[in-house]
Amino acid sequence: MLELKHIKKYYHVGDTLTKAQDDVSVAFRKQEFVAILGPSGSGKTTMLNIIGGLDRYDSGDLLIKGRSTKDFKDADWDAYRNNSVGFIFQSYNLITHLSIMENVEMGMTLSGVPAAEKKKRAEDALIRVGLKDHMHKQPSQLSGGQMQRVAIARAIANDPEILLADEPTGALDSETSEEIMQLIQDLSRERLVIMVTHNPDLAKKYADRVINFADGKIMHDSHPHVEAAKAEAFELKRTKMSYLTALKLSWTNIRTKKRAHVPHGFRLQYRDYRHRGGPGAVQRLPEADRQDAK
Ligand SMILES: Nc1ncnc2c1ncn2[C@@H]1O[C@H](COP(=O)(O)OP(=O)(O)OP(=O)(O)O)[C@@H](O)[C@H]1O
Ligand SMILES: [Mg+2]
Repeated sequence: MLELKHIKKYYHVGDTLTKAQDDVSVAFRKQEFVAILGPSGSGKTTMLNIIGGLDRYDSGDLLIKGRSTKDFKDADWDAYRNNSVGFIFQSYNLITHLSIMENVEMGMTLSGVPAAEKKKRAEDALIRVGLKDHMHKQPSQLSGGQMQRVAIARAIANDPEILLADEPTGALDSETSEEIMQLIQDLSRERLVIMVTHNPDLAKKYADRVINFADGKIMHDSHPHVEAAKAEAFELKRTKMSYLTALKLSWTNIRTKKRAHVPHGFRLQYRDYRHRGGPGAVQRLPEADRQDAK
């Protein structure tokens, strides 16, 4: 689903070099609840931000469903962030002068969802996180736990495949933390959830997999995953095949049906291509087409 390959991210400040990601390689399943633990400054947030497309890596590669992001343009990152990823932060990041509904709808502003549909999805998300009776309040009228629920509703309103949470219970008391963890665990049944936490007890109790970070490196992974390399290769091959097939088909079509309209230059170019071993050179037309072509 998601794979980091030899990811490096260094910061140079004055004479100090910080290796925030020091050759990190890790793969995540389509559906699992992963907790990231580690001391302050070990690179947890940096990794989450790289995974979510909020920050860029210096070298290595992030593969999304087997696709390299090395040549991703800004528009590709935007599409990924807006449609595939939901973020939850320790400080909720709600906009206080907007209503709760508007805050949740904000998460869909950039993904082109029509207004009525946005409202419906926001309501559904708020019901899902247990805020049915608080929908029409302002964020300032809510408790910390309720604010985090709004932030979670905002993150899931678009039904993202990946949910990233950076210390979502860092500002909450222990009872409220348990409630929020249950909610996030529930959401992880339908998607990949990667959560940074400072609380090993919560990680152990709720997550399927715990990864320990130190000095920009993964020190331990309780349930490593290896992406199926063969499946990836197959996908790539298939894409290539269908391109060739398309080329063959389009040529067959032009040859048989539209011969009179094919520009002479194109015909010459194509003939040249065939002579150099293009797809037409190895393919004999089916009998029916050969008849048709005459
Ligand atoms: N913009 C930046 N410029 C310089 N150094 C940075 C920058 N962002 C992060 N760092 C450094 O990279 C290292 C990793 O930071 P990161 O925020 O990923 O740590 P963390 O594990 O999330 O820590 P915490 O648990 O305190 O949130 C730290 O040493 C930090 O100071
Ligand atoms: Mg952090």
